[in-house]
Amino acid sequence: MSKVSIIGAGFVGSTIAHWALISGGCQVVLVDVVEGLARGKVLDLMQSGPIAGHSVDAIGTSDMAETANSDIVVVTAGVARKPGMSREDLVQVNAGIVGGVVEQIVKLSPNAILLMMTNPLDTMTYLALKKSGFPRARVIGQAGVLDSGRMRAFIALETGISPENIHTTVLGGHGDEMVPLVRYSNIAGVPLAYFLTDEQIAQIVARTRDAGAEIVRYLKTGSAYYAPGAAACRMAQAIIKNTHEIYPAAVYLQGEYGLRDICFGVPVILGKNGVERIIELDLNEAERAALMRSADSIRSTMAHLRY
Ligand code: APR
Repeated sequence: MSKVSIIGAGFVGSTIAHWALISGGCQVVLVDVVEGLARGKVLDLMQSGPIAGHSVDAIGTSDMAETANSDIVVVTAGVARKPGMSREDLVQVNAGIVGGVVEQIVKLSPNAILLMMTNPLDTMTYLALKKSGFPRARVIGQAGVLDSGRMRAFIALETGISPENIHTTVLGGHGDEMVPLVRYSNIAGVPLAYFLTDEQIAQIVARTRDAGAEIVRYLKTGSAYYAPGAAACRMAQAIIKNTHEIYPAAVYLQGEYGLRDICFGVPVILGKNGVERIIELDLNEAERAALMRSADSIRSTMAHLRY
């Protein structure tokens, strides 16, 4: 039985705990600095187990010590984006929170795989890598599973075809400069252009880039959590079950895609060791230029990072 700890029992953290209990195969520890918050949420989640038919193997606590010897630690601790606030605006405040949390994780679970959720995602993943000193295979940011899932949903809505048949690849940073790769997206192996006009595809790409902000505009206070929670759980399950599924994820690059010393969304194979392999896609000039713009945007956010 794997031990999965989730730091931060807010909207994203508690949604991940819910998905993790439904998916099974792990003990869940949910932690929050706010006294009683994680405990209350876990009691509620546990009590849904007998009714919905899922595991009740969970602990809610404000004590990080309970996370000791975790196999996976999911970090959601931080402040969520407010309307009008870019992910970049978040960097200062969340760097302080994430840095402190990672220091504790290193002491308590030196062999854990870190799954980062806190925004600005690519920068927080970089911070976690540097603070932890963990090998890059064990520090992974969740962004591409969410962004490609959003693109799949929009294609499904537009075509009326099951999202199960829709495959999309969204690389780069988890921001406005993310790179949905139309050429590496398809419906049951058939290129998108068979089902959609150029204009429809362009609209889907634009909506995918704006999807997080679109939700923030409606919610007004807070940001998305159902799909981010599902995405984190997908990745955690791939690691726990050693499935070797390919997902886009933010990982530390050392020359891949011509990039160095940056955490950036690229396709990876996930397994019990975390990132088992980084896959380098063959990109055309326009795609490569879009990826470089995305990397520049991340670097400008990283410039605000103090650690
Ligand atoms: N240790 C543990 N929990 C913490 C700490 C800490 N040091 N600092 C803050 N928290 C907790 C807060 O008390 C809060 O309950 O993190 C939780 C964050 O939850 P929400 O404010 O509900 O934010 P949420 O919507 O869950 O988003 C969390 O994920 O997707 C990203 O942009 C999002 O960065 C944000 C993060």
